[in-house]
Formats: sequence, structure tokens, C-alpha cells
Amino acid sequence: MNFYYITGTSRGLGKALAEHYLESGPDNRVIGISRTCSISHKNYSHFQVDLTDVEKTKDFHFPPHHNAKRIALINNSGMVGQIRPVGKLDADVIISSYNLNLISPSILMNSFIGAYNSSNAEKIVVNVSSGAGKYPIGSWAGYCASKAGIDLFSKVVEEEQKTAFGYKFRVFSIAPGLIDTAMQDQIRSAEPGDFNRLNDFINYKIENQLLHPDIIAKKYAYIIDHVSEFPEVLLSVKDIEPTH
Ligand SMILES: NC(=O)c1ccc[n+]([C@@H]2O[C@H](COP(=O)([O-])OP(=O)(O)OC[C@H]3O[C@@H](n4cnc5c(N)ncnc54)[C@H](OP(=O)(O)O)[C@@H]3O)[C@@H](O)[C@H]2O)c1
Repeated sequence: MNFYYITGTSRGLGKALAEHYLESGPDNRVIGISRTCSISHKNYSHFQVDLTDVEKTKDFHFPPHHNAKRIALINNSGMVGQIRPVGKLDADVIISSYNLNLISPSILMNSFIGAYNSSNAEKIVVNVSSGAGKYPIGSWAGYCASKAGIDLFSKVVEEEQKTAFGYKFRVFSIAPGLIDTAMQDQIRSAEPGDFNRLNDFINYKIENQLLHPDIIAKKYAYIIDHVSEFPEVLLSVKDIEPTH
């Protein structure tokens, strides 16, 4: 049996990932974690959790899975937050963005590795990162910083696994590129005076540069199925061959 813990399965990339695994084999079990459930399937279960509430994240426990073949955690939930320059942000939204994009994924990784350290299953952690974690985008300060944080947290975990723990867990932080989801709708609805790259994002949509979440989900699944082909922690789906 394979177990996939995926945050943010109600829509967008997380839902596409969940559906991919539910459709790819009767031995796959998907456990979704987010505020709303939009999947009904006999091999799917949902934990209703608001991951901006880190106390709730601390309460989430990964149960034992004896004889599992693979156990994976995919930290996918995310939000761009308020699209405004620093100085015009609500302090509470800064906190929520870090909680959702960085603190809760870090807590879940810690719980996951602690829970399955002695399991003989193949163990994989995938964080859904962003190009925005590698360079500054004005009016996205919290988003850029939190994605940069999850990249480095992932690299530290990989370093620990490689040097001290015999590589029991593979860890990746993977940027998906531009996906046609609600997050992009929100980006295009920013106030023009608050976001100097607004026209670029409107044009990405007009020029069909946003990819369908199903296409991106299959690329994440390819990496998860072929971890030995990917020695690096930080990846972009753009590095994956178009046929995969
Ligand atoms: N779209 C892009 O172009 C793009 C580009 C780079 C990176 N990404 C990354 O890709 C990931 C998925 O984004 P997406 O585009 O699929 O976004 P989306 O369509 O807006 O979906 C976001 C998901 O995150 C969950 N989420 C939001 N707030 C939450 C909360 N408080 N607690 C728990 N879950 C919460 C939502 O579930 P609920 O509402 O049910 O809670 C939803 O399922 C994110 O990490 C994002 O940063 C996206």
C-alpha cells in the first residue's frame, strides 16, 4: 500500500495530485489536509485543518502504516497573501502567510520524519516551492521569503539525511512554474498601483502560458516515482522532459 499525505487537496495542484494518485492504482491511499473537502473516493480521507493555525498543525499526528511500500508527504497548501508593498501589509496576513507557507510545512515535516523514521517503506517529502523563492518579486515579500525558507529547510533535512541518517528520507522542494489556478486569479486581481508586474501576469493568462494543474501533477508524480534520477533537492518542473 502507498500513502500520500497531501495538503491543499480541495483545488488546484493539490487536487490534481490527489486525483492522480487515486486514479493510478487501487493500492494508493490519499489523505488530504485543508479547510475544505472536495474529493469523494473510497481511497480518500480528509482532515479538515486550517494550516494557518499552527496549534492545529501541531495536533496532527501521522499514524503507523505497517508494511507500507511508500509513504509520502506533499506540502502543497500555499497562499500568495496580500499583493502590496511592505509598509501596506496587515501584520496578521504576514503571520498567516508564513504559517501556511513555511511554519506548518516545517512542523509537518518534523512530525512525518519522526513518525516514520523506523518504517521500511520508501519515504519521500515534497514541498511545493516557487520560482518566487529564488528572486525578489515586488509586493510578494512574505510569499518570496516563505518559499525561500522552505527551500533551505528542505536542503537542511536532505543534508541531515545524507550525512547522518543513511538517507532514509528523500526530500525535494519543487517549483511548479505557472499553473492555471485560483492563486493566479488572485494575482491578476491585484490593485494596479500595488503591483508593478500585474500586466505580465495578465499576459501570461492571455498568452496561454499557465499550464493545467493535471500536467504539473504528472511531473511531480514522475519525480516521486523516479527519485534516483534526481539527486538535487531544489527542482523545477521545467527541468523535467515534456514527455514525462
Ligand atoms: N499557481 C501557480 O502559478 C503557482 C506557481 C508557483 C507555486 N505555486 C504553489 O503551488 C501550490 C498550490 O497552489 P495552487 O496554485 O494550486 O493554489 P490554489 O488553487 O489557490 O489552492 C491552494 C490550496 O491550498 C489550500 N489552502 C489555502 N489556505 C489554506 C489554509 N488556511 N489551510 C489549509 N490549506 C489551505 C487550499 O485549500 P482550502 O481552501 O480547502 O483550505 C487549496 O486547496 C502553492 O504552494 C503555491 O504557492 C503555485
